[in-house]
Amino acid sequence: MTRDRGLAHAQKYLGDFETAVAERIEQRGKARLLEAGCGYGVAMMELVRAFGDAVEVHGFNYSPIDGDERRMRTEAVERGIFTEAGLADVTLPRITFCDASKPLPFPDGSFDFVYSQASMYLYDDKAAFLKECNRLLAPGGVARINPSLHFDEKDAPEKYQGYWEIWDDGREVTLGDHLKRVDGIDLVWPAGPDHPDLAYVELHRRDELDLGLRLVASVDLNFLWHEWGGVRSVYSTQVEFTPRYKRELGRVA
Ligand SMILES: C[S@@+](CC[C@H](N)C(=O)[O-])C[C@H]1O[C@@H](n2cnc3c(N)ncnc32)[C@H](O)[C@@H]1O
Repeated sequence: MTRDRGLAHAQKYLGDFETAVAERIEQRGKARLLEAGCGYGVAMMELVRAFGDAVEVHGFNYSPIDGDERRMRTEAVERGIFTEAGLADVTLPRITFCDASKPLPFPDGSFDFVYSQASMYLYDDKAAFLKECNRLLAPGGVARINPSLHFDEKDAPEKYQGYWEIWDDGREVTLGDHLKRVDGIDLVWPAGPDHPDLAYVELHRRDELDLGLRLVASVDLNFLWHEWGGVRSVYSTQVEFTPRYKRELGRVA
């Protein structure tokens, strides 16, 4: 599992967001950023190099094995982002450990910009994470998240080729088609239709973000075969629905 992608890779998938960060700094003097699934923190360190103390950068990983602050400093020096001495002159990003499918350990409105590359495909409940992004954004804040629409593991069985599965009225719909009906969130292809794998979800903070999705199941492919990575999340748009057998038993799902 690669954990060392930097800013150039992030912007290939998420479009140019350095400009958005620069604009925010120009308007407000500072920008607070969160990288979800930051790995070794290479992109975070490159942002600190680019903007210095005008950015306050946080990241999270599932566990320290995926990257902690010590590893982040070592990687930054080995890659020539900072010298050992230069590390002392900047405010370094902070890395927290948490599960992105659960409520995240940051207060409401903590960030102006949330970004993530090559991470959400591993979350059990991707929609819950997007709702959390909305909560964490300050007014005017934006999130850009790489949704990983397709598997990298070409050998995985056909029925699991995709990290998102959305059912609407008994019909399977794509993530892009579903998001067209949700206010404040879109699927964007920065390199155009010839590059369908390069996509990001862009979310503009709303007072309420209603994704209209209910998690029905998540299939962690790692448990099926250790060489297939990622989690396929299955959603229904029948948010309020209770199956008849549960109603008859008098228990609500
Ligand atoms: C493939 S690595 C990518 C790291 C980095 N974004 C990059 O592109 O180099 C996946 C990252 O997602 C994080 N991650 C995976 N599942 C997670 C979860 N459920 N909650 C929080 N972080 C998670 C891991 O800790 C890891 O840092």
